[in-house]
Amino acid sequence: MTSSKRRYHITTFGCQMNKADSERMAGILEDMGFEFSEDPNNADVILYNTCTIRDNAEQKVYSYLGRQAKRKHEQPDLTLVVAGCVAQQEGEALLRRVPELDLVMGPQHANRLKDLLESVFGGNQVVATEPVHIMEDITQPRRDSKVTAWVNVIYGCNERCTYCVVPNVRGVEQSRTPEAIRAEMAELGRQGYKEITLLGQNIDAYGRDLPGVTAEGRHLHTFTELLYYVHDVPGVERLRFATSHPRYFTERLIKACAELPKVCEHFHIPFQSGDNDVLKAMSRGYTQEKYRRIIDTIRKYMPDASISGDAIVGFPGETEAQFESTLKLVEDIGFDLLNTAAYSPRPGTPAALWENQLSEEVKSDRLQRLNHLVNVKAAERSQRYFGRIEEVLVEDQNPKDKTQVMGRTRGNRLTFFTGDINELKGQLVKVKITEVRAFSLTGEPIEVRQALVV
Ligand code: SAH
Ligand code: SF4
Ligand code: F3S
Repeated sequence: MTSSKRRYHITTFGCQMNKADSERMAGILEDMGFEFSEDPNNADVILYNTCTIRDNAEQKVYSYLGRQAKRKHEQPDLTLVVAGCVAQQEGEALLRRVPELDLVMGPQHANRLKDLLESVFGGNQVVATEPVHIMEDITQPRRDSKVTAWVNVIYGCNERCTYCVVPNVRGVEQSRTPEAIRAEMAELGRQGYKEITLLGQNIDAYGRDLPGVTAEGRHLHTFTELLYYVHDVPGVERLRFATSHPRYFTERLIKACAELPKVCEHFHIPFQSGDNDVLKAMSRGYTQEKYRRIIDTIRKYMPDASISGDAIVGFPGETEAQFESTLKLVEDIGFDLLNTAAYSPRPGTPAALWENQLSEEVKSDRLQRLNHLVNVKAAERSQRYFGRIEEVLVEDQNPKDKTQVMGRTRGNRLTFFTGDINELKGQLVKVKITEVRAFSLTGEPIEVRQALVV
């Protein structure tokens, strides 16, 4: 490949917010005339969009950075950028640690990438981590998928969970207006996107910061209202959202999901711990009983809904009995998927300073035991798909078997079946499930929905 265009490379760590930010930053770079390079070693601008949720996430960034910093000594015009949550957390300290860096920019500055890079090209070393009001961006993101897309609805987080760095690195809640959200979704529908996931660290907080109250003094804008406002965007066939917080999750929202046909029966609601004293020490603001009631209500309206969540083991002071309450909750709820993690003390968070930290041995032993149970339960939950006909939205080829395509059911189970990706990409296909595994399914296509529309 000989192209005179300058090239950029982005590696993204962390959550869906970072992935969405990376897609917007890639859009800005392409707008500036850069071309994407898969290989960082061929790029003129390298951007690492980083995560600091746990120590191991942060360490990964440093090992990647070290390699490229060395390269810069041979290629001085290489531009090195660290964006995202490590950038926000470390700020100028990052420049002291890796002096080869050109730009350190927090997540709130993602939309300002062009201005920041211009300053770098003008000869400056730049740190952009001060809190800002996030501007609506007019640049088209360069999205990884042509079928599914993310749309931010609220940035930041006002909660203060005692283990969590997110409020420090993502700043205060900033909701986008319903009009801006719907306009972005409508454009995605026009471009042929079939599934949209609405994003927020605490999506139930949507609208709290927007002006307007009802006659009863309630916020005019809530996430439930937003769903009713955007659910019928033409072209888009499926809607999902993440992440829900048990403290604010309402029955009104559950009803809206049951009522609106495009909203998938899939809920991602982290519970973190099954023990009320641990939940209290985490400042989560709910009890395990309340969490169970939420799941019961969801299942009352949508008996087959799939439920996923996040849990932390080995929080400071967690006793064996308290950990067993987490096991019990996982046993009782039967999650389709659970993201699990051993507690990692994070700088600038209250729990990191407590004296009652547990040993790595205890944490990793609990993590293993929890993961084992999660696998057993997920395999049990998968059984219900056997022999059923499920609607699968085809996203891609199966990288391990090119004769197969892959996509997701409404319940978010990854599903494989034989087919040609050129014909099926972006199609909703009815698939009879013939094989089930804990976290994926295999089936046979029965009918392609779009093909039947005449
Ligand atoms: N806003 C979401 C979660 C954001 S962070 C919520 O409130 O649930 C994603 C997940 O990382 C969390 O749900 C939690 O399970 C995990 N996590 C966050 N901080 C952590 C820490 N210090 N140690 C281990 N896991 C952590
Ligand atoms: Fe972190 Fe809690 Fe905010 Fe989630 S709700 S991002 S866990 S502070
Ligand atoms: Fe990581 Fe930042 Fe997301 S710390 S989990 S990338 S909000």
